[in-house]
Amino acid sequence: MIPRRPEPELMLEPEQARAYADADFAAPHEGFVDAFAEAFPGPVTGPVLDLGCGPGDVSLRFAAHYPACEVDGLDGAPAMLAAGDALMAGHPAAPRVHLAEGCLPEARGPRAPYATIISNSLLHHLHEPAVLWQTIVRDGAAGAAVFVMDLRRPDSEQTVKALVAEYAADDPDVLRRDFEHSLRAAFTPDEVRAQLADAGLDDFAVRATSDRHMIIFGHLPEAT
Ligand SMILES: C[S@@+](CC[C@H](N)C(=O)[O-])C[C@H]1O[C@@H](n2cnc3c(N)ncnc32)[C@H](O)[C@@H]1O
Repeated sequence: MIPRRPEPELMLEPEQARAYADADFAAPHEGFVDAFAEAFPGPVTGPVLDLGCGPGDVSLRFAAHYPACEVDGLDGAPAMLAAGDALMAGHPAAPRVHLAEGCLPEARGPRAPYATIISNSLLHHLHEPAVLWQTIVRDGAAGAAVFVMDLRRPDSEQTVKALVAEYAADDPDVLRRDFEHSLRAAFTPDEVRAQLADAGLDDFAVRATSDRHMIIFGHLPEAT
């Protein structure tokens, strides 16, 4: 297994943010919503918190799928939030999506406690991964549905290069570089299980869903 190599937490460069917002993430982001729906069948109503929302593509797709919810997105990078303006413009779900600047762990979801918390591709950015799980415990309601998707770290440099060649060969340089760095910064499912145990979230499921993704989901403990 290659050692974890953290990357910068916030995606602050305007060029990086624009390339990210312009990229076609339809397949993984629709896959995020489908996998949520499979993990938590039934309607989603009320406020949802999207941690590390970036330009808001997942927030919008989630809100479009669940017309009775509103999504509050939080991200610490102004450039990423600004890059989302074009995605928001004219999108039918945009009036129910509210993105705000805020850096974890200091920032709080504005309508906490939330009955639903989602997060895509934030965990591998965090230098201290406990920040994600502690934020979820802090801002989630008792019994809240929690769904996180992220990359998993490959076991060899050859696999890193092969995944970059397979999925990012035609991407702009900045995106290809970010993908490669993100793969090296990602956690393994076993590392995530240890993080969950430390956070008192041992009941959460951790599942590999593709050659590079994993999902992590479960309900927060009910109040006693
Ligand atoms: C790879 S992007 C994912 C964006 C979005 N969730 C998506 O799926 O398109 C990761 C995002 O997490 C944000 N981020 C990283 N560390 C953060 C922190 N400590 N607090 C808030 N946002 C953070 C970055 O600025 C970046 O926008």
